[in-house]
Amino acid sequence: MALGAFILFLLAAVMKGMRGDSELLQDFCVADTKSSVFTNGLPCLDPAKVTAQHFVTSVLRTPGNTSGTPTAATFIGVNPQNLPGLNTLGITLARIDIAPGGITGPHIHPRGTEISYVLKGKILAGFVEPRANKLFSQTLEAGDVFVVPKGALHYAANVGDTDAVAINALSSQNPGFLYLPFATFASTPGIPKDILAKSFAITEAQVEQIKKTLGGGS
Ligand SMILES: *[C@@H]1O[C@H](CO)[C@@H](O)[C@H](O)[C@H]1NC(C)=O
Repeated sequence: MALGAFILFLLAAVMKGMRGDSELLQDFCVADTKSSVFTNGLPCLDPAKVTAQHFVTSVLRTPGNTSGTPTAATFIGVNPQNLPGLNTLGITLARIDIAPGGITGPHIHPRGTEISYVLKGKILAGFVEPRANKLFSQTLEAGDVFVVPKGALHYAANVGDTDAVAINALSSQNPGFLYLPFATFASTPGIPKDILAKSFAITEAQVEQIKKTLGGGS
């Protein structure tokens, strides 16, 4: 195989692997949110029963209440439950509100690339590329756009004096959310203390302290 053809083949293979949700086989598949059938995505409602209401939601109108959360940040996501028309379309939208000084800690979306538009405020955003653990970080102002590759560990912080709001689009109807602090220190049952102590180069007493603070089991 010529080198050019080989590179094209590799590129196609990589792009196939990086594709988002699976292709739609019909015009739409509005979610039957009451179904108890478990499929990849939600089962489709009878198309004759579909209305305009299935394609609209107002869940992002209302800001999240950041004062009720430990890190002063809230996440409100559009999903096939609150926007049934989204089912199988391979895309979603979320609203992030962060109070001054608040953060969204390190987390991963296993199934979606995230593109973020800052609506208001000043946000420090960053992600780590896993090959060399290199950090890509930027301070974003209203109107700026930041993109996080699928599966990359990332975070955001409000570094301004006002509330910050970002609108995030993700390339999956269900991108998933693995919040690193909880996944590592607050799982049930807990990851053994000695493993966490060795992994993070801290003492088992410190592991215990973090688990207690985050509400994890011992
Ligand atoms: C926001 O949350 C705080 C703490 O839980 C609560 O006291 C307050 O009433 C909430 N505000 C609104 C507008 O819901």
